[in-house]
Amino acid sequence: MTRRPMMAANWKMNKTVREAQDYTAALLPHAADADGVDVAVFAPLTCLSEVARMAEDSQVLAGAQNFYYEDSGAFTGEVSIPMLQDIGVRTVLVGHSERREVFGESDDLVARKTKRAVEAGLLPVVCVGETKEERDGGGMWEKVSGQVRVVMESLDGPGGDALVFAYEPIWAIGTGDTATPEDAQDAIGQMRGLLKELAGDDFAASVRILYGGSVKPGNVAEIMAQEDVDGALVGGASLEVESFVALIEAAGEAASGGEESGD
Ligand code: 13P
Repeated sequence: MTRRPMMAANWKMNKTVREAQDYTAALLPHAADADGVDVAVFAPLTCLSEVARMAEDSQVLAGAQNFYYEDSGAFTGEVSIPMLQDIGVRTVLVGHSERREVFGESDDLVARKTKRAVEAGLLPVVCVGETKEERDGGGMWEKVSGQVRVVMESLDGPGGDALVFAYEPIWAIGTGDTATPEDAQDAIGQMRGLLKELAGDDFAASVRILYGGSVKPGNVAEIMAQEDVDGALVGGASLEVESFVALIEAAGEAASGGEESGD
């Protein structure tokens, strides 16, 4: 089975509406050329409707960085999945380490949000990853496998295209300290093995798992070359459109010239 690569920009808390418009206008023609690559842009709420409007009918998926799992009600400060769908959003981040660590999002909340997005047909990109202390203490897999399990247990036999996972080791985010391609493959390969156990061969062979953490044009090719890595979720190097376009092109090259996983 060949999995379609995905290159995703996470702008985090950056960009005005005007900056988002300029970026999206520059991105769209390049994304149209990138045959075989899914492109996503996770924009802040203030410019998300504009990104979604401009990207409508393109292959760029406008994405939200956060939402709540209820549809409406007394939840001050939150937005719901139907609200996001109303403005043309097609994908959502769930469980980013900054949501977990800075805003205290629990595994249970991450699971509920993922379930709601899957039910609504809005593609969740579910982030997992360990801290430096956890890795140094030999606890990487305990942390990552626990995060994956909680999410999978909340879902009812999802198809492999219902969600995407992203392995983002916290120590590699925004630090310039990228995981080695072998570290990325090791964690993501183990995740795929666990997903096979939890959801079966077809799911594990088709679900996409991205790597995130200091990905840039200079290191993306060797990361994408790893057998189980299906793309990247990129913060800093996605903020300049030229740099993000270079990453999309690298994903396209990996897709056309890359090896198949053999199943
Ligand atoms: P950086 O690419 O800036 O390390 O951020 C990674 C990330 O958190 C993407 O979600």
